Amino acid sequence: MQTFNFDKPINRFDTDSVRWNKYNRDVIPLWVADMDFASPPCIIRALKDRMNHEIFGYTHAPEGLKEDIVDYLASHYNWHIESDWIVFVPSLVSSLYSLAINVTHPKAHILTLQPVYHHILNAAKNSGRDYTEIPLSQDNQRLALNSESILSYAKSNSEMLFFCNPHNPGGTVYKFDEISEIARICEQKDLIICSDEIHCGMVYPGKQHIPIASVSEDAANRTITLMSINKTFNIPGTGLAWLVCKNIALRQKASKDFGTIIPDPQIFSYIATKAALKNGEPWRQAMMEYLITNYELLSSAITKMPRLHLYTMEASFLAWISCQDLKEDNPSQLFLQNGVAMQPGSMFHQPDHVRLNIATPKVYLEEALKRMRKAVSSKDKLLNY
Ligand SMILES: Cc1ncc(COP(=O)(O)O)c(C=O)c1O
Repeated sequence: MQTFNFDKPINRFDTDSVRWNKYNRDVIPLWVADMDFASPPCIIRALKDRMNHEIFGYTHAPEGLKEDIVDYLASHYNWHIESDWIVFVPSLVSSLYSLAINVTHPKAHILTLQPVYHHILNAAKNSGRDYTEIPLSQDNQRLALNSESILSYAKSNSEMLFFCNPHNPGGTVYKFDEISEIARICEQKDLIICSDEIHCGMVYPGKQHIPIASVSEDAANRTITLMSINKTFNIPGTGLAWLVCKNIALRQKASKDFGTIIPDPQIFSYIATKAALKNGEPWRQAMMEYLITNYELLSSAITKMPRLHLYTMEASFLAWISCQDLKEDNPSQLFLQNGVAMQPGSMFHQPDHVRLNIATPKVYLEEALKRMRKAVSSKDKLLNY
């Protein structure tokens, strides 16, 4: 059996890391969504093999990659698609922006969510269309889009709903009944669904990722699903994503900028993704076991900081923490002053929250939690004074 060492800290300074280069070296940077774990050996091997060829010319997707994705989606999510429903892109983010413009009319209204990954917010905002952020509902510290709220926020010219499952931030994994109801309401309001499912490879035990396009024939025909395994296998710097869209007319509109304004993916992204799909599963399972123990560590530390409230994580490594009771205008600044960098909630339009990345060796997480506790107790003293 292969073993992997997720405990070993790897120095990421001097690698031009977005996450590690931003702050002083004594800050623990738990903000941007990549992991501090070495990628699976099967990916490293495949990249090295390709390097050895020494010519890196223009490259199309490897033979059979779409079929590998078809098999992966069938075996992991029981989602049965055809290979020509897949279109490769170098980045899921740029696709969000181009889709908002290319699949809706200029006078359309777009529905997006709040809180949600900032590019999902900004794709709606930058489209020049009218848009509304639907506040997610909270049930027992679990965030979710309530299907009824789509009805209350939709307008007569609403054409598209941005959806995110598993949700970023917070990691909600939608259940079959929830997803089916959301899809049913989108049918009732005739909305295109743009579903960002990039975190679906990191679902916690007892949960199951269900692509919204898989719940009905109607949902398949109105959904553009955006996926990538970059997050799951920690290869976001190589950049490969794809959309899945059964509806040919919608797929053509969605692909309008691909290969022109949005460039084709680059050579190493294909190699890395192909290797991960073929041979990455043992690493993925081991990484998930590690992530779950980090989540347990975080949950137990947060219970000792009663002014902080952690939302239930059902997937991925982006913890969403309410700091409302800290009575701080900018809680991420308070934590930064104490040596932990987190994503400020204002990026997700909830300034009294922070997002913490837990995909890091335990030595970093434990130290970050200690510093957070110190920050919270300094505030406690002031508030109790
Ligand atoms: C929900 C979501 N979508 C997209 C992305 C980024 O996708 P890409 O790196 O393919 O542009 C992220 C990264 O954090 C994310 O959390």
